[in-house]
Amino acid sequence: QAPVRIAPSILSADFARLGEEVRAITAAGADYVHVDVMDGHFVPNITIGPMVVKAIRPHTHLVMDVHLMIAPADPFLDAFAEAGADILTVHPESGAHVHRTVQRIKALGKKAGVSLNPGTPAKMLDYLIDDIDLVLVMSVNPGFGGQSFIDGQLKKIEAVRKMIDRTGRSIDLQVDGGIDTLTAPRAIAAGADVLVAGTATFRGGAGQYAANIAALRG
Ligand code: DX5
Ligand code: ZN
Repeated sequence: QAPVRIAPSILSADFARLGEEVRAITAAGADYVHVDVMDGHFVPNITIGPMVVKAIRPHTHLVMDVHLMIAPADPFLDAFAEAGADILTVHPESGAHVHRTVQRIKALGKKAGVSLNPGTPAKMLDYLIDDIDLVLVMSVNPGFGGQSFIDGQLKKIEAVRKMIDRTGRSIDLQVDGGIDTLTAPRAIAAGADVLVAGTATFRGGAGQYAANIAALRG
């Protein structure tokens, strides 16, 4: 298994100093910048849009990993691509035609991810897995940072790991929600290779980010 990559979720950053925060996690050894986009409709919270992605883009060379918790997602794919996203991840429930959404993301020259809510089965991926670059297993119900890891999702991570290995292609298996130094090793053992972490990255202020990120790698 390749070394795990860490994707700090800027949902837990100081929004008043976002450029600085993105530079700080970049210097602290993060691999991706995870951007949680919420619309107050698909999930019960509102965060940021393409303008903010564009504003933080010059502050890092890291992969800009944009997690779209919006419905519909299709009308906004072009704007996020133009704003500088490298990965666009969508939830199948956010539109009637997730396969078409994936095709559109790829046509924009971006990596396509599909995210599974805790109640969504791995089977949802059967006819998508050959076309995608990333699977995001949600280990909390999306909407807020700081929630507790749902243990039952470990089985799904294992199932998705098997599906990915069967393709023989390189597909990220990302886990998002409630990742800390206790849950990270369990997610990794189940087959995750990218860990999203908001609370666990940003706790303690910028002086702690490097140690926080290193601790999650185990
Ligand atoms: C939840 C988001 C997550 C969240 C993770 O809707 O997709 O990225 O911010 O936050 P923590 O790491 O605090 O659980
Ligand atoms: Zn996320």
